[in-house]
Amino acid sequence: VGAGRVGTAVAELLRRRGHTVAWVASRTESSARRAAATLAAPVADLDSPDAGKARRGRGPHMGADVILIGAGDDAIAEVAARIAPLAGPGTVVCHFAGALGLEPLEPVVSAGGGACALHPVQSCPSVAAALERLPGSVWGVTAPPHLAAWAHELVAEVGGTPVDVAGPVRPLWHAAAVTASNGLVALLHTAESLLHAAGIEPALQVLAPLVEGTLANVWGRGPAEALTGPAVRGEAATIERHLEVIGATAPDLAEPYAAAAALILAAGRRAGKVEGRTEASVLALLNDARDT
Ligand SMILES: NC(=O)c1ccc[n+]([C@@H]2O[C@H](COP(=O)([O-])OP(=O)(O)OC[C@H]3O[C@@H](n4cnc5c(N)ncnc54)[C@H](OP(=O)(O)O)[C@@H]3O)[C@@H](O)[C@H]2O)c1
Repeated sequence: VGAGRVGTAVAELLRRRGHTVAWVASRTESSARRAAATLAAPVADLDSPDAGKARRGRGPHMGADVILIGAGDDAIAEVAARIAPLAGPGTVVCHFAGALGLEPLEPVVSAGGGACALHPVQSCPSVAAALERLPGSVWGVTAPPHLAAWAHELVAEVGGTPVDVAGPVRPLWHAAAVTASNGLVALLHTAESLLHAAGIEPALQVLAPLVEGTLANVWGRGPAEALTGPAVRGEAATIERHLEVIGATAPDLAEPYAAAAALILAAGRRAGKVEGRTEASVLALLNDARDT
């Protein structure tokens, strides 16, 4: 239910492992039809009387051992409430949201069904990308004890590596994924914009070898050891020069640059590489730039 990128891809990966996709439903019929064509499955209308009969085993095609909710995070609770009548004993309902645990699936559990939260730590901009990347990704699994082994097996079936994540720490787990993925992209967007401001094209070709080298350092030595640069070394004059020219040529980038430098500085402090005095003097410079 929710024929988007992750839901469609997970269903397809399971189909390739020999499972049958019993039906597909989505908010819009066009999405449901597109996914149904990929998955060689019928489109189900959750509002039809057949859906109501399914729990009693009389629906023509609504019976399913597993129901995957591929709807966006905000819609999961609503979808769970709608499908609860389909999810009696013997059915397990899974969602893929990182920050949510089993709470939004409560209506399913009340109806006697099982519930699991399975979060692939991956960035999937399309179904095709998800099909390629979900196998090989790490998945955060939150499941009740009687379903834990089953959930690990399901993740392994799609080629993922399961990691148990307790429900209360899922927001931390998801915040880490967001920081690593979206945060990195936002930093690179800022770096690309700074090169554009300098008239350098194509900017990404300049940045790619640097980023590859940096990532190799991080994987090899760990982020704390790999952290370098003027903010960590306390080179206030260099940072002042950056801020001066950014302010004159690309003032809208002053705030993002200062925010990134503050992030570097804070990481340097936590890594024990920046002294309090150095941090205070560089922070004063950055705060001035952010205020103007
Ligand atoms: N994409 C990623 O990189 C990624 C990575 C890890 C985890 N996730 C998680 O995976 C889940 C799905 O994300 P996604 O990126 O695959 O989203 P998506 O491509 O935007 O797909 C979401 C689908 O949910 C459907 N939907 C929304 N509200 C619905 C409702 N009330 N009833 C039925 N269907 C509904 C939409 O249907 P229509 O198309 O019919 O409007 C849409 O096709 C989310 O929980 C997300 O946090 C995503």
